[in-house]
Amino acid sequence: MLVLGIETSCDETGIALFDTKRGLLSHTLFSQIEMHSEYGGVVPELASRDHIRRVLPLIKETLLAAKCGLHEIDAIAYTQGPGLAGALLVGASIGAALSFALKIPALGIHHLEGHLLSPLLSTPAPNFPFIALLVSGGHTQLMQVDAVGHYKLLGETVDDAAGEAFDKTAKLLGLGYPGGAALSKLAKQGRAGRFKLPRPMLNSGDLNFSFSGLKTAVLTLINKQEITQQTSADIALAFQEAIVEVLTEKSLTALSRTGLTQLVVAGGVGANDQLRQNLSSKASAKGATVFYPELEFCTDNGAMIAFAGAMRLQASPDRTWSPASSFTVNARWNLEMLEEPDN
Ligand code: KG4
Ligand code: ZN
Repeated sequence: MLVLGIETSCDETGIALFDTKRGLLSHTLFSQIEMHSEYGGVVPELASRDHIRRVLPLIKETLLAAKCGLHEIDAIAYTQGPGLAGALLVGASIGAALSFALKIPALGIHHLEGHLLSPLLSTPAPNFPFIALLVSGGHTQLMQVDAVGHYKLLGETVDDAAGEAFDKTAKLLGLGYPGGAALSKLAKQGRAGRFKLPRPMLNSGDLNFSFSGLKTAVLTLINKQEITQQTSADIALAFQEAIVEVLTEKSLTALSRTGLTQLVVAGGVGANDQLRQNLSSKASAKGATVFYPELEFCTDNGAMIAFAGAMRLQASPDRTWSPASSFTVNARWNLEMLEEPDN
């Protein structure tokens, strides 16, 4: 079964073809980061307009790369939410139109379900059940993933997401947008021990996070001294150490509380070297394994949406799927409200 995936929830247009027998055949991505960086963040209207420009050429390119024709596609999977309403509408309308024209099913996929299942696209892949630490620009969550459609939220941020905290702190340090990778690079020149920042909610007893106070702590530090390149690097390191320690400790607590031994890290912050090193060494000391999907599957992409669609189709073999006759998007959508597959 060949599934075309369409991701347009934020600032990346991602298209992919996933075949349930042959795996991922091709995938393409266009990132709008350069366009938004000028404004210091994603501008929703610009994002929607750019998705409109990119989506059809990318679908053609993806089909060509896989040497497939439109009529070989068995189903469409598009991101139905959560995300920017206008951006989501682009993918949903193209997905529904293709479904209607080709008389094939269209599945509206939850973006975070895509992220949670994306580790299964990599080798080695974890087996169900596992814990997923989802750390992106918009989300910071610890989830228990038992099977397709069976997700339990264990904890989440009560304010800023981890990536958002990286981006806001990077901005305070005069780095560009999005600044997570630049901050992490700067932190490599930092001297450990010069500054110590708070570890918010480390001992809260639950699996929730709070990162908005950290950027305020950084701002206070910046205001207190002359900012040289070295001081910036020292602050960047102190910030990164604080965030990494909290993410690591809460992830280990999630593993011990559930008795699970596999942890998957998804989302852009999963690219952070210090987070990776710290998580891997502390988890392996406790007999657990950490899985890091390739970066291209960690950040937003069409492959995870095609894959989630394929998993859902396979999980409900007896269900009759009709071609789309209408479509809706859910800019806000609680993952735990997701329908479970029929079987
Ligand atoms: O998952 P993602 O590509 O997009 C969404 O938010 O949906 O994540 C992007 C986030 C940004 O906040 C970016 O600053 C952060 O991931 N990021 C990093 C690193 N690379 C990207 N944060 C820390 N260290 C990095 N190396
Ligand atoms: Zn995402």
